[in-house]
Amino acid sequence: MSVFTVQDFLKKKKEGRNITMLTAYDYPFARIVDEAGIDAVLVGDSLGMVVQGLENTLPVTMDEMIYHTKLVTRAIKKAMVIGDMPFMSYQTGIYESIKNAGRFLKEAGASAVKMEGGAEIAEQITAMTKSDIPVMAHIGLTPQSIHRMGGYKVQGKTEEAAKKLIEEAHIVEDAGAFSLLLEAIPMTLAKKIREELSIPTIGIGAGPHCDGQILVLHDVIGLFERFVPKFVKQYANIKEEALKAVKSYKEEIEKGIFPSDEQSFK
Ligand code: KIV
Repeated sequence: MSVFTVQDFLKKKKEGRNITMLTAYDYPFARIVDEAGIDAVLVGDSLGMVVQGLENTLPVTMDEMIYHTKLVTRAIKKAMVIGDMPFMSYQTGIYESIKNAGRFLKEAGASAVKMEGGAEIAEQITAMTKSDIPVMAHIGLTPQSIHRMGGYKVQGKTEEAAKKLIEEAHIVEDAGAFSLLLEAIPMTLAKKIREELSIPTIGIGAGPHCDGQILVLHDVIGLFERFVPKFVKQYANIKEEALKAVKSYKEEIEKGIFPSDEQSFK
């Protein structure tokens, strides 16, 4: 059972302390994220791109999400674990959405779920919340809408689009979401949404005026090279380090340096 809870999300917002979040998809990285003291871990469907090598997140299945969430919850001692509802696991109706969301808590040990969308999924948010499944809503750039949006583009740039996002934020709050993820929107808009809502906002590419921040782990540690969005800050280059290690290993075998006496039994 995680130590950080839905109540802690709200408490941190009230106290004006920033909430820290990262994604994780497997045991070793979830251990690192938890040891670093991150408040909450999202098992994001971004795993489709950064772990499975897919073009986008659409093919990711519920079973794959449950599998990865299990690996993460096994590693976590303190952080809250949130499972990400994949494409077509909640859009198809309330009954199916509650059943699928319930699997994250029942089978995988998560404490909450995240869903992309605003007004169109308000009923699902309410139904899940009534079933004691806490929901983080997600508006702005919603990667599962890539075909409608025509790519990964900043949202809410026009006055009309900004107004719509503010309305959506209120709708998901009223529907019962315990927090709201804002992706790729102008920072002035994120500031306004934060000020208007009582639930915490978590930003990714939404500037500093959110109640917390999240990034994709593989972007932060330099393990995803296909593209690096403008909002990412890379704190390490693990790909380079790992490549160096594997090249040295190969070279030492070829030169007869590895294994030496030290790695051999007498
Ligand atoms: O799937 C994911 O990792 C996400 C991020 C945008 C936070 O939803």
